[in-house]
Order: sequence, then structure tokens, then C-alpha cells
Amino acid sequence: MIRPIVDPSRPKVYIETYGCQMNVNDSEVILSILQDAGYALTENIEEADVILANTCSIRDNAEQRIWGRIDQFKIQKKKREGVVIGIVGCMAERLKDKLLTAVDLVAGPDSYRSLPSLLEAVAPGTPQINVLLSHEETYAEISPVRLDKNGVSAFISIMRGCNNVCSYCVVPYTRGAERSRDPETILREAQELFENGYKEITLLGQNVDSYRWESPKGNVSFAQLLEAVAKISPELRVRFSTSHPKDISDEVIYTMAMYENICKHIHLPVQSGSSIMLEKMRRKYNREWYLERVKKIRSVIPDCGLTTDVIAGFCGETEQDHKDTLTLMEEVVFDSAFMFAYSERPGTLASRKYPDDIPYETKTARLNEIIALQGRMSLKSNEKEIGKVQKVLVEGPSKKNPDELCGRASSNKMCVFPSRGEKAGDYCYVQVESVTSATLICKRID
Ligand code: SAH
Ligand code: SF4
Ligand code: F3S
Repeated sequence: MIRPIVDPSRPKVYIETYGCQMNVNDSEVILSILQDAGYALTENIEEADVILANTCSIRDNAEQRIWGRIDQFKIQKKKREGVVIGIVGCMAERLKDKLLTAVDLVAGPDSYRSLPSLLEAVAPGTPQINVLLSHEETYAEISPVRLDKNGVSAFISIMRGCNNVCSYCVVPYTRGAERSRDPETILREAQELFENGYKEITLLGQNVDSYRWESPKGNVSFAQLLEAVAKISPELRVRFSTSHPKDISDEVIYTMAMYENICKHIHLPVQSGSSIMLEKMRRKYNREWYLERVKKIRSVIPDCGLTTDVIAGFCGETEQDHKDTLTLMEEVVFDSAFMFAYSERPGTLASRKYPDDIPYETKTARLNEIIALQGRMSLKSNEKEIGKVQKVLVEGPSKKNPDELCGRASSNKMCVFPSRGEKAGDYCYVQVESVTSATLICKRID
């Protein structure tokens, strides 16, 4: 397992990460590659020789934020000669040479192995770019530099890219085609993390259910991979994200039920409750299919945590479509949700085919209604936990009270409870006494 190198004699890299968990893990891969090439990490931008932003293009506001950061990075360049500014990740892939006038280096998600040579070639007036996408690259044998703060939870990317063409989504263009990573390298990484004290691993992919490794030794499905990671040790928790409603299989649900240490939480982005919108979004399922999957999950795993993503104001969304989203949310009662106003992304199918015709005010009003409803649903979902026993993996002291600890239940719900001096990575048994929409307030029963 690789840790950050602190060495004042090495050139220093500062990296900021935006976007999804896959990007967080990619930053760890980037640092691993750069440490091998003689760089060291710094958390202080003032002393950086190389400033990188690992970027996200999922919505326009994500990109606008980065443009603002680039202006701030340039202040460092004025202060110190020779500072290199690089944009990597999804925005680098989407905007390509449009970024070259603003920064010194542009590298897409599949070109991180070339970062050392790109950095070497950067000179005043000669910015460097590599935005080639690959059908094979999974950084399979690269051991990421672990950047998490507590040494308890780590991410492992099990696949890259996406083969779906959800009409609103830029990811297939920024991350390229879907490819699965060699399961042996995934298992080796998980084993190594466990041996180094990690207690929780999250397997990452845009659509983990379509993970598939084919080799003469036999094929491996996502359910089989999940089982193999769970078997490393009952003390090691396994999570995964993201599940696609069209692909989540009964095999995965039963595998979850079979292993106590596979956490009972599924992030199952619904996007909309209207079958008409889902069709236009090219999600390849409808409202009824989604509700059937939820029913199946709950029949096999009654207490399974369920979270989702929702988009408000997609092209042509009527009041009725919007209401369909609200009624679906009321029917499912998600624990929590990421909720967004639709943001048109250039180049996507939706941008070419459907006008972005929902006025800003309507989008915002619908989004606010969705957020308010989710607040009530989160509370309702948490209230069902009152009296129940939870096994919690301690993350550390609670933010509000140093005499209390916080950590997550198997369902991914946040718990706070009195400390008896345990540290991050210990397991505690607690019983839920009261709740807010965000937290389960618990007493000790161990
Ligand atoms: N692979 C995951 C989603 C990854 S993107 C899946 O298929 O569910 C994370 C979330 O961002 C999506 O679930 C969606 O809710 C949101 N999103 C993606 N594109 C968007 C857009 N153009 N506007 C608003 N939200 C968007
Ligand atoms: Fe985007 Fe759809 Fe792929 Fe998710 S499954 S990353 S929403 S294209
Ligand atoms: Fe953003 Fe790229 Fe992730 S667009 S959400 S960083 S895959």
C-alpha cells in the first residue's frame, strides 16, 4: 500500500479534486504515478511546483467553478516562477485544447501514465496535452496513494468509462467506453488495504452491475467479485456504487443478503419518476421497473438503505412528469438523495435532440420542491430506525461533541453515540433513540 511521500527535496504536487468518488480515486492514482516519477505531495498550494485540478464536467456549474479556480492558480504562477498549472480529468477531456490557452497541461482520464513525460516537456509557451481515450486502460496494477484522512475507508475502482448513453449525460464522452478491471488486481488491492488496517472498501464504477471480466480461467460477474472481496475477512466492510436500475441483478441482491459484511445499502439513481422522461433520458427502464426492483430489494433485505439521484426540469418535463417524481419519492421513501436541476451538456444526445425548454424559475421551483420532500422522507426513513440495533464503524469524534463518536450503520446512515475512547476503525453496537433527517442519535448497548 502506498502512502504520501513527504520529502522536501522533491518537486511538489498540489492536487484539488472535484466531481465523483471515481475522481477522488483517480487523484490517488495520479499521485502514485507522480511519486514514482520523483514528485512528492503537498497540501499547501503556496509551496507547490505543480498545481493540478482533477475536474468534473457533469453540470455547467461544476465547470464554472474550475474556471474560477484557474484564475486563483494563476496568482501562484505570478508569485513563483516555473509553477505548472494542469487541468486533468473530465473537463480536460471535454474541452481539450480550449483549455490550453489558460493552463500549461491538459490530461484526460485515460492518459495519467503520461503525466511525468508531459510535465517534463512543459515549458513557457509550450503547453502539453494528452486526451486520448483508451479501450483498455484501467490502471489495474497501480497501487493508489491513499489520501483518505482516517485510514479506515478506501475506494477501489473496478471499472472505467460507461457504455450507456443516458441522453443528458456527458460521462460517456469524458470517460470513454466501459472496461472492467482484472479481478485479481482488485482483490490484491483490497487484501493489502485490509492488512494495513482499512475496514471499509467501496467498489466504484459508473454501473457496477455491468462489471464483467472474461478470461480463459473463467468469467467473473459483479456478484462474484463482490463475494470474493467480502470473503477477505468478516471484519472488512464492502460497499459499492453506482448501481443502475436496469442492470442490478437478483444475484447481486442475494449475494448482499448472504454476507453480513456487505453493507446493506444501494445507491440506485432513479433520475425521474415519469416513464415518459425516463424514455427520453434513455435510462432503459420505466417507473414500474424501478419500483419492482425496489420491491425485490426490500423483500430480500428488508432494512436495506436506499439512496438515489434525481434530475429536475429535464427537457419537456410537464407538471405531471414532475408530480410523478414526487409520488415515486413518496412511495419509495429514500434515505437521502442527490438532487439536481437539469444542466444541458454540449454534445450529448439531449442537447442535439431536445430543447432545454424548462425555464430556470420552473426548474428551481421543482428542484426545491423535490429537496423539501426528500427532507421529510429522510426523517420518515430515519424514524423507522428508532429502537433498532446498529453495528457502526467508527469514523471519529462527532463534530458537535468531542465526547461522542460518529460512524455509519450498514445502511450508510450516520450515527452519533457516546464515546468510550474507541478510535476510527473500531466497531460499536448501538441502539437508535431519536433521529433527525440527517442522523441517528443512539445509545450504547455493547
Ligand atoms: N452512473 C451514474 C451517475 C453518474 S453522474 C448513474 O447512471 O446513475 C451522477 C448524477 O449526476 C446522475 O445520476 C444524475 O442525477 C446527475 N447528472 C448527470 N448529468 C446531469 C445533467 N446533465 N444535469 C443534471 N444532472 C446530471
Ligand atoms: Fe451517465 Fe448514464 Fe453512464 Fe450513469 S449510466 S454515467 S448517467 S451515461
Ligand atoms: Fe464528474 Fe467525470 Fe465523475 S464528469 S461526476 S468527474 S465521471
